[in-house]
Amino acid sequence: MYESFFGLKEKPFSMTPDPRYFYPSAKHTDALNHMVYAIEERRGFVVITGEIGSGKTTLSRVLFQKLDRRTKTAVIRNTQLSAKDLVAQTLDELEIPYKPSSTKAGLINALNEFLVEQLGTDSNVVLLIDEAQNLKPNVLEEVRMLSNLETEREKLIQIILMGQPELKSKLWLKELTQLRQRVTLHYHLAPLDEPESAAYITHRLHVAGANGTPLFSSSALPKIFQYTQGVPRLINGLCDRALLTGYVNESKTIDAGIIAEVAGELPSLTDEPISA
Ligand SMILES: Nc1ncnc2c1ncn2[C@@H]1O[C@H](COP(=O)(O)OP(=O)(O)OP(=O)(O)O)[C@@H](O)[C@H]1O
Ligand SMILES: [Mg+2]
Repeated sequence: MYESFFGLKEKPFSMTPDPRYFYPSAKHTDALNHMVYAIEERRGFVVITGEIGSGKTTLSRVLFQKLDRRTKTAVIRNTQLSAKDLVAQTLDELEIPYKPSSTKAGLINALNEFLVEQLGTDSNVVLLIDEAQNLKPNVLEEVRMLSNLETEREKLIQIILMGQPELKSKLWLKELTQLRQRVTLHYHLAPLDEPESAAYITHRLHVAGANGTPLFSSSALPKIFQYTQGVPRLINGLCDRALLTGYVNESKTIDAGIIAEVAGELPSLTDEPISA
């Protein structure tokens, strides 16, 4: 509702992980490069952890846009599933036909045949599991079995496990030692620092059609960082509310006062700004 008041084409701080709004911070770029490298070099197994709302799902969407057209991708975002469901969903994603009555071993066979065929045509296959911190240990063990699909020379499927920091502790469970040993690369996505947070806000405003006049005053930007500690989802929530308040108050510029006022109304933020 406030878009035209601020001269914007659309809302700049929506909560959806839209790749159009992707801001390539040094950390996000680094995480992306790690994933692209691991896939292209067929390194097998990558783990990406990151704080809640730090941009993991967004990264997964950007990653798929960056991959070579011949790379086939399977994405699993619903992680409340059994080991057999995991394999079946992977087949569905890769459009591999199978009989509903197939056993898990039958499904794995179908996958293996498909992967060998892909290798013959020089295609690479990626399985990305988002929210992997929710996978049950026996399902994680199944993921390890899938990562075992290989020829003498290379991995047939590249697997990316993405999740909140608990994923890392889960991988340290004794029963998952073998899985942990297969992880060739782990990257932890940290929140943005203060200059990156300011650049992130400017970037999103620009994509939403801002004409260059700063909508957030120079005192508002450090305040936003203090309240959100650079977590993109928290920045979005705070900035969206601040723009709405600016609109209601007919104020074209958002200053530190508006930020402090709306931050107090957002339960996800701390009551007091953490001092810089
Ligand atoms: N680099 C970025 N560029 C643009 N927007 C981003 C970036 N990182 C995060 N966001 C935005 O922040 C919000 C949260 O991002 P996302 O959903 O990707 O986080 P997440 O790490 O997957 O969160 P969760 O831990 O809840 O799964 C989204 O609105 C997304 O658009
Ligand atoms: Mg996510």
